[in-house]
Amino acid sequence: MAFPFFQFAVLGVMAATGGLVSAQSSATFACDVSKNSSVNSFVFCDKSAGIEARVKDLVARLTLDEKVGFLASKNPAVARLGIPSYEWWSEALHGVSYVGPGTRFSSLVPGATSFPQVIHSAASFNTTLFHAMGKVVSTEARAMYNAGLAGLTFWSPNVNIFRDPRWGRGQETPGEDPLLASKYAVAYVRGLQDADKPEMLKVAACCKHYTAYDVDNWKGTQRYTFNAQVTKQDMDDTYQVPFKSCVVDGNVASVMCSYNKVNGVPTCADPALLTGTVRGDWKLNGYIVSDCDSVDVIFNAQHFTKSPEEAAAKSILAGLDLNCGYFLGQHTKAAVAGGLLNESDVDRAIANNFATLIRLGFYDGDPRGGPYGALSTKDVCTAENQELARDAARQGVVLLKNGNSSLPLSPSSVRSLAVIGPNANATKTMLGNYEGAPCRYVTPLQGLAAYAPVVYQPGCLGVACAGGNLQLEPAKQAAGQADATVLVVGTDQSIERESLDRISLTLPGQQEVLITEVAKAAKGPVVLVIMSGGPFDITFAKNNEKISSIIWVGFPGEKGGTAIADVVFGSYNPSGRLPVTWYPESFADSVPMTDMNMRPNPATSYPGRTYRFYTGDVVYSFGDGLSYSEFQHHLVEAPKLVAVPLESGHACLSRRCKSVQLLDGHCEGLAFDVRLLVRNAGGRAGGHTVFLFTTPPTVHGAPRRQLVAFEKVFLRAAEEGAVAFKVDVCRDLSVVDEMGTRKVALGAHVLQVGTLKHSLSLRI
Ligand SMILES: *[C@@H]1O[C@H](CO)[C@@H](O)[C@H](O)[C@H]1NC(C)=O
Ligand SMILES: *[C@@H]1O[C@H](CO)[C@@H](O)[C@H](O)[C@H]1NC(C)=O
Ligand SMILES: *[C@@H]1O[C@H](CO)[C@@H](O)[C@H](O)[C@H]1NC(C)=O
Ligand SMILES: *[C@@H]1O[C@H](CO)[C@@H](O)[C@H](O)[C@H]1NC(C)=O
Ligand SMILES: *[C@@H]1O[C@H](CO)[C@@H](O)[C@H](O)[C@H]1NC(C)=O
Repeated sequence: MAFPFFQFAVLGVMAATGGLVSAQSSATFACDVSKNSSVNSFVFCDKSAGIEARVKDLVARLTLDEKVGFLASKNPAVARLGIPSYEWWSEALHGVSYVGPGTRFSSLVPGATSFPQVIHSAASFNTTLFHAMGKVVSTEARAMYNAGLAGLTFWSPNVNIFRDPRWGRGQETPGEDPLLASKYAVAYVRGLQDADKPEMLKVAACCKHYTAYDVDNWKGTQRYTFNAQVTKQDMDDTYQVPFKSCVVDGNVASVMCSYNKVNGVPTCADPALLTGTVRGDWKLNGYIVSDCDSVDVIFNAQHFTKSPEEAAAKSILAGLDLNCGYFLGQHTKAAVAGGLLNESDVDRAIANNFATLIRLGFYDGDPRGGPYGALSTKDVCTAENQELARDAARQGVVLLKNGNSSLPLSPSSVRSLAVIGPNANATKTMLGNYEGAPCRYVTPLQGLAAYAPVVYQPGCLGVACAGGNLQLEPAKQAAGQADATVLVVGTDQSIERESLDRISLTLPGQQEVLITEVAKAAKGPVVLVIMSGGPFDITFAKNNEKISSIIWVGFPGEKGGTAIADVVFGSYNPSGRLPVTWYPESFADSVPMTDMNMRPNPATSYPGRTYRFYTGDVVYSFGDGLSYSEFQHHLVEAPKLVAVPLESGHACLSRRCKSVQLLDGHCEGLAFDVRLLVRNAGGRAGGHTVFLFTTPPTVHGAPRRQLVAFEKVFLRAAEEGAVAFKVDVCRDLSVVDEMGTRKVALGAHVLQVGTLKHSLSLRI
């Protein structure tokens, strides 16, 4: 996702999105008895009838011409049934967004709470926070729907694995780890969908882009034609994991298939991926939608079919229900006439779409009479919601270096603070993409100025920071005179974005020169703040003694400036951890972005990807992040031996096996507790994420390390807290074999928490 489909004709040329308006009119609602009592006779309007009966009734009333209209994201009105048009495309990645024509801002609602970009929130490792943000977003979305400004179907979140550091859309995702991505997906989706009854929806979320989609535009490879070649093993233990969790545990109402092909087949035309896996194995309760306009891509860009009708038929027969764009609306009728698919296949697709709208209350008349009817414009941008945006921004800040404990700065001893850099006065940059209009920005400059007198110098005009835009002298002068210096550098959407992957992992343009020269000239401590979605090779800064501290702030959202200042001046103790590996520049030089293999290949010197498989050097590791306190872990309880029961006659009882596939019944109850005590040994209260990693035995190309659980705790100075993880043997101590089968790995598993290591043997 996504860009307006009417621009699609020009492949690869993408104009800026945003500001498209055609929201539902607040005047007409389907099944509004108060406006027209004759709708009473329609079963599809009858709230007391079951969803299935209502859907069946509605489908039966439609002509084929009308039906195909319901396959496209802009549904037409059907006046004779009192049904108004509906625009399916809205977005709410980290706040209600103006990307997508279903939602707009107006003088009535000029802004909504703009939380940090997802990669930043992910760094909090706080599932309570993920859920709380989803809930606020759905409340504001419903309030805007009631005001006629928003839709009910939001194509968020993006849960693709952030496999390659250069990906321009990595910022939208919860990072490189399948467990973190899964936890994020489930918590955020539940916050968005948040209904009292499981069959109802507050708003409908959508997990995208299914699947193995993480190349946008890299050295001439375009997402529209890219064929991701993925092994069965990588598919099952990496790419599919967050989607499965999103559907099975998050009960998401929608999955969006992607632009790319996987192993030669466009994802939106792959019956195994859609009908087999999503609908069959995972039992999606909802609709499958295409990216915008993936079905057009199948015919026009990928030439996968000989005709547009065949593309329409293949995608619907594969399991697609809705098409972002016009393509299915235009070509499906002819496909039916040509016998490429039956009208009953169209019925199945629109039935899934109608069922979703019924669960949302779309066919229940005026929403002001429904369960969310009381929500109004007063519920958008409340003080409480904005405070959560501030808290989220603080929780994701990652402290990477703090030489001589020079942070936090003491407000009383900093009489002048030099604030330098192209992102020092950032506003919109702080939001990242898929943003909405925020309630109110606090820039880094404003945030810091609330603590100490500031002198501001941009240092560069713009993050691209080309030689001619460098303004070195005034920046050096400011740093030379101030008691302390904060440099705010990094990127914006001109460097990393949808349709633009990076080539290099170094900071853009002359930023390194700016940082090094300012640090050299600085009188006091130098704090380097990197504002970016993706990771960077900042070895030069890590090794520079003059740069006392380094902080990564993602794209921290509307209250980013407050969060940065709260951390720099110590009113908040940093607790964020990196959700991705920071690779050296040599990675970008030697590893093709298009190589989808997760596992290393010694024969080709391919180093593998992410902390789970990568064998090379790193600049910073997944999970890195410092606090102003020190936290100590003590293992209280963990087994040394776990016995796996096998049914009599199992082959592994008579010969040595390295792994066993456990049948469903044998997994139940096969679990144990790992109990820990965590102590805050520092002088300040703070949050701390406890990570439980395992290193499985070396079978089936298993990951070197795998996160199996995490928990964020808050501890006062000198306080001790208990943390317990339930480890499920089949889920947590299993590996996916070369054929994609999950098996319990026998032998020594090493559990790791911080520097603690505990070896555990798994035997038959
Ligand atoms: C009331 O609804 C019926 C059924 O949709 C429709 O035929 C009729 O024209 C409507 N009447 C008015 C006044 O809108
Ligand atoms: C996690 O987030 C919630 C919601 O914002 C917050 O109340 C809680 O303090 C956070 N937990 C930690 C340990 O920071
Ligand atoms: C359409 O339905 C008929 C009768 O059930 C069936 O034989 C045929 O295979 C179907 N066509 C397609 C394209 O699925
Ligand atoms: C730490 O302090 C020592 C001694 O004052 C100084 O030489 C060094 O540069 C400082 N290091 C950092 C990273 O600030
Ligand atoms: C910071 O940016 C804001 C908004 O773009 C602008 O109004 C303000 O003048 C800038 N501040 C400085 C000191 O340049």
